[in-house]
Amino acid sequence: MTLDLPVADTAPSKKTLPDAQTVTTVRHWTEWLFSFRVTRPASLRFRSGEFVMIGLPDDNGKPILRAYSIASPNWDDELEFYSIKVPDGPLTSRLQHIQPGDQIIMRPKPVGTLVLDALQPGKRLWFLATGTGIAPFASLMRDPETFERYEQVIMMHTCRTAEELAYGRELVQNLHADPLLTEMFGTEFASRLLYYPTTTREESPRMGRITDNLTSGKVFADLDLPPMSPETDRAMICGSLAFNIDVKAVLEGFGLREGANSDPKEFVVEKAFVGDGV
Ligand code: FAD
Ligand code: A2P
Repeated sequence: MTLDLPVADTAPSKKTLPDAQTVTTVRHWTEWLFSFRVTRPASLRFRSGEFVMIGLPDDNGKPILRAYSIASPNWDDELEFYSIKVPDGPLTSRLQHIQPGDQIIMRPKPVGTLVLDALQPGKRLWFLATGTGIAPFASLMRDPETFERYEQVIMMHTCRTAEELAYGRELVQNLHADPLLTEMFGTEFASRLLYYPTTTREESPRMGRITDNLTSGKVFADLDLPPMSPETDRAMICGSLAFNIDVKAVLEGFGLREGANSDPKEFVVEKAFVGDGV
C-alpha cells in the first residue's frame, strides 16, 4: 500500500511525503492488541513519552488520524506503536491489517504531558497504566535518562487478562537483560526497574486494580517499598478517563500534586484513549 495523501484540507494538490512512513515490522500479541514499527523521519525530534497523530486514508483518500503514544525511546532509529484493535473502529479496523512495506500517515508534531521534564526531581518514579496506556512508558522505560533521574522506576500495569500483559512483560524482561543498561547502571540495574503486572478478570500470580493495590498498601509490601510520599515519589498515569480520575485521587491522598510541562510537580496524567461520549 503506497499512500497518495492530500496535503491539508485547503491544498488541492496531492503528495506522498513527508507525512508517509513505511511499516518495518508488525507483531500481533492477542486478538485485540498489536504493535508495529515504522521508519522515523530524520527531522523528527521528540521527548520519550510524547504522542503523535498517525493514520491511514479512508476509501476517499481522506486521512483518518488518531493520537498514538510513541512506544519507542527517543534514541531509536525507528518509531514503535502499540495498538488496540477496536471492532469497527474507523482507524484500527484498517490499521490492524498493515504489513511490512505498507505506508501509514504520521503528522510529525509530538506533544504530551508524560515527559520527565513535567515532574520535579525525586527518588522513585511510578508508571501507572492500564491496557495500551503502557505505550508511553514503553518509551520512557527504554530511555536511559529515566534511570539517570530516578533511583527506582516502578511499572504497574493492569489488564483484564494475562495475555494482555505480554507486550509489557517481554519489554521489561528484555530491559533487565540489556547489556548496555547493565553497563551504564551496573549489575543491579534489574532492581532499579520494578515490574508489577496485575490482572482483574483472570487468575494470575498478582491481581487487582492499581487503585486498590495502592490504597491497601499491597504493592508497597510486595515490593518492599515505603508508601508514596511527595518528598520522594513521582508518578505518571495513563489509562481510561475513569482510571485516571480514580488514580489521581489516590495519589492526592498520598499528598502528591498534579503538575504539567509548564508547572512541574509530583505527578502527571494523560488519557490512553478518548472514550465513548467523552
Ligand atoms: P475510535 O473511534 O478512536 O475509538 C472507538 C472507541 O474505542 C473509543 O470511544 C473507546 O471507547 C475505545 N478505544 C479507543 N482506543 C482505545 C484504547 N487504546 N484502549 C481501549 N479502548 C479504546 N490507542 C492505542 O491503541 N495506542 C496508543 O498508544 C494510543 N495513544 C493515545 C494517546 C492519546 C493522547 C489519546 C487521546 C489516544 C490514544 N490512543 C491510543 C487511542 C487512539 O487515538 C484511537 O482512539 C484508537 O486507535 C482507536 O481508533 P479507532 O478509529 O479505531 O476508534
Ligand atoms: P476491572 O476489570 O476491575 O474493571 P478496561 O478494559 O475497562 O479499560 O479496563 C482495563 C483494566 O483497568 C482492567 O483491569 C480494569 O479493571 C482496570 N480499570 C478500569 N477502570 C478502572 C478504574 N476506574 N480504576 C482502577 N482500575 C480500573
